[in-house]
Amino acid sequence: MRMKVTLIGTCVGVVGMIAIGFLGNSAAVEPHKPSTDTRQRLVLAPAQRDKILAEMRLMLVSVGGIVQGVAADDLPAAEQAARASGMAVAADVDPQIEKLLPQPFLKLGMQTHMGFDMLADQMKAGGDQADILRGLAKLTGNCVACHAVYRLDEAR
Ligand code: HEC
Repeated sequence: MRMKVTLIGTCVGVVGMIAIGFLGNSAAVEPHKPSTDTRQRLVLAPAQRDKILAEMRLMLVSVGGIVQGVAADDLPAAEQAARASGMAVAADVDPQIEKLLPQPFLKLGMQTHMGFDMLADQMKAGGDQADILRGLAKLTGNCVACHAVYRLDEAR
């Protein structure tokens, strides 16, 4: 009796492992299923895409720093976080990359960098918390709007 139970247990285990292996494997070997992501694909060389994504991650660091600074009532820290994603970092955008991106994307990107500078200026001037939060809300609206429309693909 005990043998039988163990045997059944082993069978269930083996079947389970095969099923998991099969599912895992099929996901790994079939990456070309049609995507349900219908956003516009912007195709860049891998290094160009990396550069833009690095700039994106920096902007998220800035947003985090601003929120932290404002929450801690540390406006200089929040200002520094905002400035880190201002026009100064966009100015070095590679003209090669610029050529490949659609105008609305570039415009929204520039507006976003300018928005960070405006927020930094506002904080430098000791603006009040509600105003700063309104500015930040507008800014994060840009992030959301752009992400809803575009995605970045790597040229192969
Ligand atoms: C002008 C368009 C645009 C704006 C504005 C924009 N993004 Fe992005 N961002 C993108 C695109 C396109 C991607 C790639 C998305 C994809 O391929 O799925 C991306 C990706 C990212 C990523 C992922 C980075 C990675 O390493 O994969 C982060 C984080 C991010 N954005 C943060 C932000 C934040 C924060 C803001 C606003 C302060 C912002 N973005 C504004 C277009 C934009």
